[in-house]
Amino acid sequence: FKIIVTENYDELSEKAFEVMKEVITSKSNPVLGLATGSSPIGLYQNMIKDHKENGTSYKNVVTFNLDEYIGLKRDHSQTYWTFMHENLFNGLDIPDANVHVPVGDSDNIQAECEKYEEAMKNFEVDIQLLGIGANGHIGFNEPGTSFDTLTHTVVLKEKTRQDNARFFDPLGEEVPTEAITMGIATIMKAKKILLVANGKNKADAVYAMIKGPVTEECPASVLQNHPDVTVIVDRGAASKL
Ligand code: F6R
Repeated sequence: FKIIVTENYDELSEKAFEVMKEVITSKSNPVLGLATGSSPIGLYQNMIKDHKENGTSYKNVVTFNLDEYIGLKRDHSQTYWTFMHENLFNGLDIPDANVHVPVGDSDNIQAECEKYEEAMKNFEVDIQLLGIGANGHIGFNEPGTSFDTLTHTVVLKEKTRQDNARFFDPLGEEVPTEAITMGIATIMKAKKILLVANGKNKADAVYAMIKGPVTEECPASVLQNHPDVTVIVDRGAASKL
């Protein structure tokens, strides 16, 4: 692991941006694996700012997102497709055709999982961005997920649904019960991994990922087996290291 500890979230987002920009500007057709959640928002804002101010182009960039809810229409306000457009893609010049998010309202979810994995085979992911759950999850791969998994469906844990209820309650809707996620083996194929985590509530997970045993009980611990991982954490998330 290359571990960078920052004073605060702004510095974390700045450092993460430097790593991301290096990949984007050093390749002619960069392939990015992307994540949703609160952790990458500052990084995404830096990418948009850099595009607007310095003209860094995303015309030749291809992206694959980690995961998506099952059962919501794509343009629903709470899909990860919508999240990515609102927080990143709408601010860049990336062509629609280059953006990949699992299709959670497909008629045939099993076929969609296979199609997504197949599509990724044609592109080697240059950098996969990850957040980490307080229980060590990556993507929607919760503790106990096999390290061999490819893109697959998961039944969401009650805790995860409760954590996300705040986004659905105002709509008078229930949190979806299932999702599609890249598997652990899918994530491990990326050439480089960039994981960002901030806040004390991530400290145990960050410790288990870096210092704990490599075990399916902590999905992120699999990253100890990857040759190129950069972890950027603020002081809170680094406090147990
Ligand atoms: C997001 C994802 C999740 C999050 C994780 C951390 O696409 O797959 O694994 O990265 O739940 O979420 P935040 O950043 O909101 O703490």
